[in-house]
Amino acid sequence: MKIKEKIGLIGVGNMGGAILEGLFKKKIAGPSQVWVYDKIGDKAAQFSQQWKANLASSNQDLVGKTEAVILAVKPQDLFDAAEEFKAALKSSHCVISILAGTPMSKIRKAVSGTFKIVRAMPNLGAKVGESVTALTSDDTKGEGLALAEQIFSGCGKTVRLEEKHFDLVTAVSGSGPAYFFLMMELLMKEGIQNGLSEAEAKTLAVQTAVGAGLLAQASISSPEELRKMVTSKGGTTEAALKILESKNFPEIFHEALQAALKRGRELSQ
Ligand SMILES: NC(=O)c1ccc[n+]([C@@H]2O[C@H](COP(=O)([O-])OP(=O)(O)OC[C@H]3O[C@@H](n4cnc5c(N)ncnc54)[C@H](OP(=O)(O)O)[C@@H]3O)[C@@H](O)[C@H]2O)c1
Repeated sequence: MKIKEKIGLIGVGNMGGAILEGLFKKKIAGPSQVWVYDKIGDKAAQFSQQWKANLASSNQDLVGKTEAVILAVKPQDLFDAAEEFKAALKSSHCVISILAGTPMSKIRKAVSGTFKIVRAMPNLGAKVGESVTALTSDDTKGEGLALAEQIFSGCGKTVRLEEKHFDLVTAVSGSGPAYFFLMMELLMKEGIQNGLSEAEAKTLAVQTAVGAGLLAQASISSPEELRKMVTSKGGTTEAALKILESKNFPEIFHEALQAALKRGRELSQ
């Protein structure tokens, strides 16, 4: 379904660009209802030229021309960006922040005034329309959340969660692609060390990851049940998994996720 609101993007980086591309490709919004602005003028100009979106002359200009603003600068740039647009913000505006480790209270502090706010945590899968985006809002009417759900459906799936879970979301799905990339990297390394070319090893490792992901998504079985299905007694998979178990891989992984969670909490302060 096409959204009617005029949308602005502040920070045309990796993630902001991917979100808008999803909107255009799935025809959730047309380029004529979108304005972009980036501190690096060339970046915004290039995006606007490629997608025929409107180029704002400043953050204030962008906010003045739009109804919903996707805030996609780095967390450390929040206060500077806020200074540049807060004068143009009206109570009817919806600010959708994708800033990692940045609670809604911090956005309100930086921007001040009344406006709807949604906090979103997508992941890099957005670049291929396969992100999972956690969404939360303090807007009791839920209008901002509904709009954000439409916007982020352009780059994958969405899930509504309470804000108290956002550091966990960052550790699990925000950083999550890196854990799967590491697994692919290690599979490739093994292939190369044992005589495969890099291209051959990449095809085997990446396509295996794609197949496992699609199967886990399509199946009614849990990932644990699927793992057991490919682990026959006395077979090769069992031999590999036994080593991971005996070297305490689950505990190591648990520690890694706890470290990500702790870091997320520190950054949220
Ligand atoms: N990448 C991910 O996987 C991911 C996942 C979830 C959430 N996020 C969040 O998404 C946000 C953006 O990440 P990213 O990887 O897309 O970063 P990025 O590629 O660095 O994009 C941010 C862009 O915003 C620009 N910018 C900085 N200050 C600005 C201002 N005042 N007005 C307008 N533009 C400004 C930056 O310019 P300069 O380079 O000159 O500063 C840069 O071009 C971050 O807050 C991050 O926490 C990212």
